[in-house]
Amino acid sequence: MVSEIQQLKQQALKEIEGVKDASFLEAIWRKFLGRKDGALTRILRGIKDLPEEERPKIGILANKAKEEIETKIKEKKIQVTNYKSQVTRIFDPSLPGKKQEFGHLHPLTQMRYRVADIFSSMGFEILEGPEVETDYYNFEALNIPKGHPARDMWDTFWLRQNEIKNLSQRLTPTAVGEKSKIKNRTGLLLRTHTSPVQIRVMEKRKPPLRVCVIGKCFRHEATDPSHEHTLYQIEGFAVDKKITVANLIYTLRSFLEALFEQEVEIRLRPSYFPFTEPSYEVDMRCLTCGGKGCPACSRTGWVELLGSGMIHPKVYEAVGYPKAIYTGFAFGIGLDRLAMMRYRIDDIRWFHSGDLRFIRQF
Ligand code: DAH
Repeated sequence: MVSEIQQLKQQALKEIEGVKDASFLEAIWRKFLGRKDGALTRILRGIKDLPEEERPKIGILANKAKEEIETKIKEKKIQVTNYKSQVTRIFDPSLPGKKQEFGHLHPLTQMRYRVADIFSSMGFEILEGPEVETDYYNFEALNIPKGHPARDMWDTFWLRQNEIKNLSQRLTPTAVGEKSKIKNRTGLLLRTHTSPVQIRVMEKRKPPLRVCVIGKCFRHEATDPSHEHTLYQIEGFAVDKKITVANLIYTLRSFLEALFEQEVEIRLRPSYFPFTEPSYEVDMRCLTCGGKGCPACSRTGWVELLGSGMIHPKVYEAVGYPKAIYTGFAFGIGLDRLAMMRYRIDDIRWFHSGDLRFIRQF
C-alpha cells in the first residue's frame, strides 16, 4: 500500500510537470483526485477497510500525497497561465499606487534648445565645435599671440604632453585640426570660449556665413556665485560683403526679444577684444526693475550681457580670406547667464550641483 501511494504520487507529479496547457491539469486532477474514481481517492476511501493499526500511517501518507499533488497543480496553473491573467490574479486594487517619477531636461539644456530655435529661425546654422582645442585655434588665430596680456582673461586647463599624444591618436583630424597642425602648434587645452569655431568654419568655407555655436567652455578660476569652471557659451557671427554694426544690433535685439518675450533696450559700450575691431560690450536695460535700479542690476538699471564687435582683419588673414573684401560681426554670450536671468537664479553653481531640489523647479 505504501509503495502504491508513493508510485501514484510520483506519477502524478511527473505528469503535472510535463503540462504546457492549463486545460490538461483538469484531466490530471480527475485522474488522481477525482471524487468518483480518482486513483488516490480510491485508496483514501479504502482506508476504513484496513487493519486498525495500519490506518493512521496510510491515512497520513495518502493525505500528504493528495496535498502535494494539489499544490503542484496550483503552482503549475500559475506558471502556464498567460502573463495577463497572472497580473489580474495578483492585482489588488485596494493597494496604494506606485508613484511614477518623470525626468525632464536640465534648465541649461532647455535654454540651449530655445536659443538654437531662435537663431535657426533667423537663418543661422547651429554648430558645436570641439571642446579640446589647440593653442592655435583658441588663441593665436584669434589674434592673441603667445605672451599677449589678453591671455590673462582666458586662463584654462592644459593637457599634458602624454595626454596630447593619446588624444591626437584617438581624435579625428576634424576634431582637433589637421594632425600635422597639432605637431607644429603644441599645446592642447580645454577651450575657454566658442570663438575658435569662427576660425574652423572660415578656414573651410567662404562667406556668406551665418553661424551660431553653442557649446561648453572651461576656465581655470576660483568659483563664486557668478563664475564657474565649466560654462556654456553662445557665439554668433555673420560674414558677408556688407555686414555692419547695424546688423549686429538688430540681430542681438531680435534675439533678446524672442528669448525674453518682451521688448528690450540695449546699449553698446566701447570695449576691447583682440579678435574684433571695434569691440563692444552690450548691456540690456534691467528687466527686473525696468531701469530704475535694483539688486539684480547692481542699482545701475543696466545688465552687462555680452561681448561683441566687428571681426578683426587679422582673423580674416589667419583663415586666408582676401584682404578688405568681407566684413562681419561676432558676439559671445554666456548661456548660463541668460538662464540665470530668465529663471532668476542667484548662483551659477546651482547648475552643476546635482541638487534635485533645484532641478525639479524647471
Ligand atoms: N570669446 C569672448 C569671451 O569668451 C566673448 C566674445 C567677445 C566673443 C567678443 C565674440 C566677440 O565673438 O566678438 O569672453
